[in-house]
Amino acid sequence: AAAEKGGFDSFMDKEIHDQPQAVADTLLGRTDATGALVLDDLRIDESVLRAVNKIIVVACGTAAYSGHVAKYAIEHWCRIPVEVELAHEFRYRDPIVDERTLVVAVTQSGETMDTLMAVRHAREQGAKVISIVNTHGSTIPRESDAVLYTHAGPEIAVASTKAFLAQITAAYVLGLYLAQLRGNKFPDEIARLLDDLRAMPRKIQTVIERGEYVRATARSMEKSDKVLFLGRHVGFPVALEGALKLKELAYIHAEGFAAGELKHGPIALIDEGQPVFVVVPSPRGRDSLHSKIVSNIQEIRARGARTLVIAEDGDDAVRPYADEIFWIPQAPTLLQPLLAVVPLQIFAMALATAKGLDVDQPRNLAKSVTVE
Ligand code: G6P
Repeated sequence: AAAEKGGFDSFMDKEIHDQPQAVADTLLGRTDATGALVLDDLRIDESVLRAVNKIIVVACGTAAYSGHVAKYAIEHWCRIPVEVELAHEFRYRDPIVDERTLVVAVTQSGETMDTLMAVRHAREQGAKVISIVNTHGSTIPRESDAVLYTHAGPEIAVASTKAFLAQITAAYVLGLYLAQLRGNKFPDEIARLLDDLRAMPRKIQTVIERGEYVRATARSMEKSDKVLFLGRHVGFPVALEGALKLKELAYIHAEGFAAGELKHGPIALIDEGQPVFVVVPSPRGRDSLHSKIVSNIQEIRARGARTLVIAEDGDDAVRPYADEIFWIPQAPTLLQPLLAVVPLQIFAMALATAKGLDVDQPRNLAKSVTVE
């Protein structure tokens, strides 16, 4: 087993380190000689994809958070409404699905029963299903109209890491493909966005190389019993994923919130010393997202929060309000989740390790939930 872990203490640690490769491999072979995106495994008529008027992403757990991230990108690039729904909720609520609906099922294992039932239900209603799957030969791709494989390699640790980054990458490729097909974007814009994506593995590597500071912080927080996570825009699902990782691995009550929602409730949770992670968007991005979150950090700090901030290299505006800063390389806003989630994964793993817990096999959890 030690050899399988490639010299790391756990599969999770190894899989965190596999992430640059997982993203790079998921991007491989997606363009033809002219640079246009091609999805070989796609067996749906292009005219059907051009006519799609709604996308519903169905998934469970971490895979569902990758869908939440992808929603921002796909709506922005394709101008198609995207809903993201937990597969078990989708299945039992009489969803509005028809021939013009594209259902995207995201799953690492390809065997999650709730997701499989959602796929069957969608197809019965006439929808086309594209699945984003990591495991070849699994059930969900067999029952889908098309498959886009993530090339993360086998993921052994129960808590998902590299599959998550690969799922976001694959969903972005799908978004760009649809944008190309439907004429929402010019080829040169798509090529530029693909170049941005191809630059991510190197940046993810940089975040991993900076991991020791995250680990040291986690070790000093071994006694924490409640940790909050805030984010906006694509940083919101990153906050949710950071909280999930901490619950799964360290058995700490952790919750993620949209930072804009603070005043509507969560701020009541803040008292002296309360640790709060904040995912800060790029200061170079549009829409004043950055200044909004800087005010949120000030608000919680004024009430005693201990702020653990994930910020872009060079973002000096957050420094005065951050108790700890975990720096990540600069990237376009939509791609930032591929970087921002990594310190949160490392934090959860290191805190669980400090508590003496088994990070690969957390209590009560299974890698793949094949019952409803
Ligand atoms: C389980 C695992 C999670 C995973 C979820 C969905 O709960 O513990 O890590 O995110 O299932 O699994 P899937 O294989 O469908 O991605």
